[in-house]
Amino acid sequence: MRIDIITVLPELLRSPFDHSIMKRAQQKGLLEVVVHDLRPFGLGKHRKVDDYQFGGGAGMVMMIEPMSKCIESLKAERDYDEIIYLTPDGKRLNQSISNQLSLKGNLMMICGHYKGIDERIREQYITLDISIGDFVLSGGELAAAVLVDSIGRLLPGVLNDETSALFDSFQDDLLAPPIYTRPADYNGLKVPDILLSGNDGAIEKWRYEQSLKRTQERRPDLLED
Ligand code: ADE
Repeated sequence: MRIDIITVLPELLRSPFDHSIMKRAQQKGLLEVVVHDLRPFGLGKHRKVDDYQFGGGAGMVMMIEPMSKCIESLKAERDYDEIIYLTPDGKRLNQSISNQLSLKGNLMMICGHYKGIDERIREQYITLDISIGDFVLSGGELAAAVLVDSIGRLLPGVLNDETSALFDSFQDDLLAPPIYTRPADYNGLKVPDILLSGNDGAIEKWRYEQSLKRTQERRPDLLED
């Protein structure tokens, strides 16, 4: 999979994909993340990318021309399955959306800044609006990083058995069960006996019950869907 990200703050996206699982995904050639600086597409001597809002109101708006030129330059190179705009008014990200996006080949992500982007960019190019939650970030970069991570780890071959996504929270609409590692007894704080029993069937049953209990307690909404 290839993911192209357009941003005015490329520096913000240098590091998130250079560690751990995202790094491994790229080293294995399963994921390519390319960050594009919008600034060179900006207008005039100062490479301006934003301007005042028509109709008045506080906050700058990202202009259509630089963004359009940047998007067109990328589209000239390859076809995109989705052109995603990260925005608080988008569809709320969940595991099912990440699962679906992980099946695609080429994705483009647009990071907004200031007040947001000119509506005509959305009408013209955006095929999917995504929000990572009901709160407002200063820009779309951190949201893009979250989205890339959640998709990247699902690509076949990225995770090994140890890190398998199959048992993640949400993968089956349930939160993950509690987990423990050595020592089995830390100053009297004990690991549940069942996990030390070696009885795989009983352990699986216990984990399922714990998942269900945790989901009922913390996220009953997941069970309603
Ligand atoms: N940009 C600003 N806030 C955002 C959010 N909550 N999700 C996605 N993109 C954003």
